[in-house]
Amino acid sequence: MSDKRPRRTFAVISHPDAGKSTLTEALALHARVINQAGAVHGKGDRRATVSDWMAMEKARGISITSAALQFVYRDHVVNLVDTPGHSDFSEDTYRVLSAVDSAVMLVDAGKGLEPQTLKLFRVCALRGIPVITVINKWDRPGLSPLGLMDEIEQQIKLRPTPLTWPVGEAGDFRGVLDRRTGEFVKYTRTAGGATRAPERRMAADEVEEADTAVWADAVDEHELLSLDDKDHDQERFLAGETTPVMFASALQNFGVAQLLDLLLELAPGPSATTGVDGSVREVEDAFSAFVFKVQSGMNSSHRDRLAYARVVSGTFERGMIVTHASTGRPFATKFAQAMFGRETTSVEQASPGDIIGLVNAQALRVGDTIYEGERIDYPPVPSFAPEHFMTANAADIGRYKQFRKGIEQLDQEGVVQVLRSDLRGDQSPVLAAVGPLQFEVVEERMKNEFNSPIRLSRLEYGVARRTDAAGVQALAGKRGVEVLQRTDGAYLALFIDKWRAQTTVRENPDVLLEELPAGG
Ligand code: G4P
Repeated sequence: MSDKRPRRTFAVISHPDAGKSTLTEALALHARVINQAGAVHGKGDRRATVSDWMAMEKARGISITSAALQFVYRDHVVNLVDTPGHSDFSEDTYRVLSAVDSAVMLVDAGKGLEPQTLKLFRVCALRGIPVITVINKWDRPGLSPLGLMDEIEQQIKLRPTPLTWPVGEAGDFRGVLDRRTGEFVKYTRTAGGATRAPERRMAADEVEEADTAVWADAVDEHELLSLDDKDHDQERFLAGETTPVMFASALQNFGVAQLLDLLLELAPGPSATTGVDGSVREVEDAFSAFVFKVQSGMNSSHRDRLAYARVVSGTFERGMIVTHASTGRPFATKFAQAMFGRETTSVEQASPGDIIGLVNAQALRVGDTIYEGERIDYPPVPSFAPEHFMTANAADIGRYKQFRKGIEQLDQEGVVQVLRSDLRGDQSPVLAAVGPLQFEVVEERMKNEFNSPIRLSRLEYGVARRTDAAGVQALAGKRGVEVLQRTDGAYLALFIDKWRAQTTVRENPDVLLEELPAGG
C-alpha cells in the first residue's frame, strides 16, 4: 500500500549563522522526530572546517551534507531538504533547490538580507519556487520590522505579506499579532528553548495591561500594512509575487509551530511535472524521479556512488527495476537509503516529494531521470554561475591519462565545471566552482581515487557571463576578459569582477554577455 499522506518538501535558504540548524532542530522537535533539541545536528559537526569535513565524510562513509530530514506533522509528511552552506557551500547548495516545492527564507532580524540568502533566493526565483520568509532572532535587538519589510521589497522584489506581526520590538519579543484572526499569540519563554514553548492565544480585548502599549503599536502597523496592500494572497504567493512573512525565535521555539502550520496550509505539495519533450507526468502516474545530487569517492576501495533523487510520480518500492532515461538501460534499486546527518535508514517505499538515496549508482548523473512505464525525461538541472576559478595540471605528467579520466568523471558528476580553450590546451583545463570546497573535493579525489595528484593554481577571475560564438570572435584579444568553453558547449567569458564585466558590456553592446543563474 502506498503512503497517501500529503507531502511538503522544502528547503531553508539562509546565510551562515541566521539560525538554520537551530530552526531545523526546533522543527524536528515540534514534529516529534526527536525529543531534545540538538539531536539532529551536532554543534561540532556544523563548525567543522573543510578538512574535517572530508575526514568526517570518510570516517562515516556517508556525506554530512546529505539529503533530507523527514518527519510527520499533523498527518502530513514533511521533507526538509538540506542545503549545504557554511564552508561547504557549493554547486550542490543550489542544485538541491531543484528538488523542493517551496523554500523558507530565514533572515537574521539583526542583519537583514545577507549575500548567501540573496544568491539562494535568486535560484528560487528562477525556478518559480514560492518562498515563505521567517524573520528569526526576534528575541534579540535588531532592525525595525517595517524596515525589514522595505528591505525585502527592494532587494528581492517580492511583496512581503506578513501573516504575523511582532508585538514588542526586536529584543522585547512578547508574541505576535496573528494578522488573519486579529489575535494576540503570547509566548512564554522556556529555559534554553529545549521544550515546546507554550503559546497563549487571546482576543484583542484580553490583552493584559503590561502588553497594551506594544500591542497598540502592533495593531497600528498591522493596519498600515493592510492599507499598503500587504495582506496574504495565496495566488500571488504561488505565482512568486509575494512572500508571506512571520516573526520567530528559533532558539526559543517561538513561531516554530506556526511555521509548520503555514507550510501545511500554504506551501504547495508535489505537482505534475513536464518532461523535455513536453509530456506531463501526474503525481499519481507510474514511478519517476530525477537525480539532483551525486556523491562519490566516499569509500575509495568500493568506488561507491550515491545518487539522491526526488520522487516525482508514483510509488518507489525498494528493489524495483527502473529505466534510466538517458541510456535506456535498467537500473536496480536494491539499495535505497534515506539519510540526514549521520542517520542512515533503508527506504522501503517513497512517494512523490520524498528524497531517496540510491547506492551503487555508477550510471546516474545529476539531472538524470529514472522511471517505470512510459518514458519520461525531466529537464536537466541547470549549471550555476561559477565564482572561483583554478587551472588544473597533472602533478605527475606521466599520469596524464589518469588525470584526463578523473577530470572527465568529476565533470560528469557535476563536482566542478570544466572549461577549456585552444589557447590553454587540453593539459591544463580551468576548473570553475560556486564554492571553494569543490576544489578540495577535486584534489582529494584525483589523488585517492584516480591516482593522479593535481596542481591547482588560482585564476584572478570572479565573474562569468555567457556569450556565443560571435562573442568569442569579438572578445578575442580584449583586455581583462578570457573566453572559455564549458563541456556542455556553452561559452563563458571570465572577468576579474563585476565592474570589469559591466564595462565590457558597455563597450561591446553588440556582444552577448548574459548573466548566468545565481551570479553573485
Ligand atoms: P546556522 O545553522 O544558520 O549557521 O545558524 P545556527 O543555528 O548555528 O545559529 C547561529 C547562532 O545563532 C547560534 O549561536 C544560535 O544559538 C543563534 N541563534 C539561532 N537562532 C536564534 C534565535 O532565534 N535567537 C537567538 N538569540 N539566537 C539564535 P552561537 O552563539 O553561534 O551558538 P551558541 O553558543 O548559542 O550555541
